[in-house]
Amino acid sequence: MAFNAKNFIKDKIEEIRAQVGQKCAICATSGGVDSMVCAFLAHRALGRNLVAVFIDDGLMRENEPKTVTTILRKHGIRTVLIYSADDFFKALRGKENPEDMRKAFRHTFYKTLGKAVRKYRAKYMIQGTIAADVVETKGRIKSQHNVLAQIGISPSRYGLNIIEPLVTLYKPDVRKVGKALGLPKSIYGRMPFPGPGLATRVVGEVTRDKVRMLRKATSIVERELRNVKAFQSFAVLLNDRATGTRSGKRAFGNIIVIRSVQSKNAMTATPTIIPYKILERIQRKITRQIPEVTKVLYDISPKPPSTIEYI
Ligand code: XMP
Repeated sequence: MAFNAKNFIKDKIEEIRAQVGQKCAICATSGGVDSMVCAFLAHRALGRNLVAVFIDDGLMRENEPKTVTTILRKHGIRTVLIYSADDFFKALRGKENPEDMRKAFRHTFYKTLGKAVRKYRAKYMIQGTIAADVVETKGRIKSQHNVLAQIGISPSRYGLNIIEPLVTLYKPDVRKVGKALGLPKSIYGRMPFPGPGLATRVVGEVTRDKVRMLRKATSIVERELRNVKAFQSFAVLLNDRATGTRSGKRAFGNIIVIRSVQSKNAMTATPTIIPYKILERIQRKITRQIPEVTKVLYDISPKPPSTIEYI
């Protein structure tokens, strides 16, 4: 049977109201499709009893904290912006192993959120876990930070009861729900962006300096590929170095990978066939605007055997 977004919304509003009652609920949103749809859905159900929390972890794309909180507030959603980039960089210091990085991110994220939960005396956390997160986590493909039960985190440790209204849906249906809820297309139609943010796109230790470079490269890639239809397009900063030339001298610089994939639900993916001229333009812009970068590569790996992200 075809998915009916309106009925889904109606049912979930009733369910959320029945569970939360007159208590306060928190919804942490990263600005990604899933968490934004979740926040809008929960707001429909709870009104002022929902607090949307945006944690500025320092790992977001350019202007995200401002853009996202402005959209939430414009739609009447009670929104709190928490700046805690220092805590995240501290937690990620010295970590190079992908799972250690995810764990450090997750721990800092829930510690920060836990403080907000106590401050607002929230009893519930409404979370945008979707079906693919559960499948991949159960399959031990990776531990998603937003699938608490499956990764052995006890929500009560953080003082939270978890509600996951989107857990039966895959991304295309989540977008339909977003559209039916009246989210702007720039949000419900946007590319998936992982919870741990740009940290999933820095290979090796995550530092402020690397994130600054990657953020700039990401914005170039997103802008130049805005008219190329893709499931996700982004930049990655490798841990390796490579020689280039800067001011006529040899320079041992950084390597940026351009990643763009076609996919339905992120379970499998194929690389986007990008016109060569566009790739060349991206290369020029990145090496001009980020002098520390000496090489730009295009990743042609499908999933499987590869994954979409790099950690
Ligand atoms: P991979 O790299 O496993 O990614 O092929 C599949 C999809 O999941 C996104 N992704 C994440 N999303 N937390 C998230 O919320 C994460 O830790 C995470 N890791 C990957 C990725 O962007 C892709 O769409």
